Amino acid sequence: MKVLVIGSGGREHALVWKIAQSPLVTRVFCAPGNPGIGTIAECVDIKVDDLQGLLSFAKREEIDLTVVGPELPLSLGVVDLFEEYGLKIFGARRNAALIEASKAFSKEIMKKYNVPTAAYDVFTEVEPALAFIERHGAPIVVKADGLAAGKGVIVAQTAQEAQEAVRDMLSGNTFGTAGARVVIEEFLKGEEASFLAFTDGKNIIPLASAQDHKAVFDGDQGPNTGGMGAYSPAPVVTPAIHEKAMEEVMRRTIDGMAAEGRPYRGVLYAGLMIDGGEVKTLEFNARFGDPECQPLLMRMKSDIVPVLLAVAQGDLAGVEIEWHDKAAVCVVMAAAGYPGEYRKGDVINGLDEAGRIDDLYVFHAGTALKEEKFVTNGGRVLGVTALGDTVESAIEKAYEGVAAVRWEGVHYRTDIGAKAVGKKR
Ligand code: AMP
Ligand code: GLY
Repeated sequence: MKVLVIGSGGREHALVWKIAQSPLVTRVFCAPGNPGIGTIAECVDIKVDDLQGLLSFAKREEIDLTVVGPELPLSLGVVDLFEEYGLKIFGARRNAALIEASKAFSKEIMKKYNVPTAAYDVFTEVEPALAFIERHGAPIVVKADGLAAGKGVIVAQTAQEAQEAVRDMLSGNTFGTAGARVVIEEFLKGEEASFLAFTDGKNIIPLASAQDHKAVFDGDQGPNTGGMGAYSPAPVVTPAIHEKAMEEVMRRTIDGMAAEGRPYRGVLYAGLMIDGGEVKTLEFNARFGDPECQPLLMRMKSDIVPVLLAVAQGDLAGVEIEWHDKAAVCVVMAAAGYPGEYRKGDVINGLDEAGRIDDLYVFHAGTALKEEKFVTNGGRVLGVTALGDTVESAIEKAYEGVAAVRWEGVHYRTDIGAKAVGKKR
């Protein structure tokens, strides 16, 4: 089989790495990929939003399965287009991917189908939004409706901060049209977890639990990023929480989407807030989480290709996934300045040394090749991901890898996985 993966981040590197291990697969392509991916697959220079380019490549190469990494091509309708031409593709169709592309839409689905979430309201005008914030007080959360690369959410500690965020977003200055509508919602406390499931629109197969670390600095301080590290399993997802997440979040949402005439096929990612045995949904994504995908795929024992194929063909019945009874931890190494403006072009040293560590893999996210050397080329540069018998040993191993790698101004959190230590699985 020939497989094409669309995307260029750590998530796609992990997908390519896992797919390439399948005995069913003869060739793996990645569009556009990155230099790390290029060491294990064939990168093709087609951008993720060039749907026609992707389609002609898949037709020309007779690709048997295409796997979509990021949200942008999903929300542009890449799955619909490929299906129109009879090509197998893993991902949500455009009308289902709206669950990520519009926060107002996803809140509406949650409300209509009784999926637990924070109380909220939607605004397009400044004055009523300011008045709403005045009435409810802080802390309060302001979200740009559209896609904003994980940065469109302001958890405001004061009413003034929330009001400023509303003005910025609705004026179109910060997020362009993505901010033309805002969701303002109740602040939820608790511990977050990432809950992902494969679905063909009817059958639901959960992935192992995971937890992301969104804030840029240790102790969850500083602004939110796309994710500074992740681990799996997440002990906060106890069997009782797992059950609730499956019934109250996944089942209701997937049935709801079907009832709306937007059958959801692909991987559905629910960002959960867990508090006192209750589960609430912070958001949905129509794709694998990044970095969560890295530790998750490292723990997946089963071949992923039959699962992806079954989803693409709309029949997951009878499919099962086995997981390694180990923990995996991914530490993101980022460029100086991220998530603000960051440096590019710094030479990355120590990759060979890290590569010699057992049960550890360095996934590339934002790298480039310059004069045959890997250099930094993105905010999140690498995802150093390790497997261990316990979360403690996986943490130790991941940081052993991190210590081997260096470049000027490198930044990473030193507490990835700390929340899981000492908690029973
Ligand atoms: P989202 O993209 O909606 O998941 O929001 C990004 C991050 O903002 C989440 O991972 C949470 O850390 C935080 N967040 C979002 N909504 C809320 C909320 N209602 N209460 C508290 N924190 C939130
Ligand atoms: N790690 C968060 C996300 O993928 O949205």
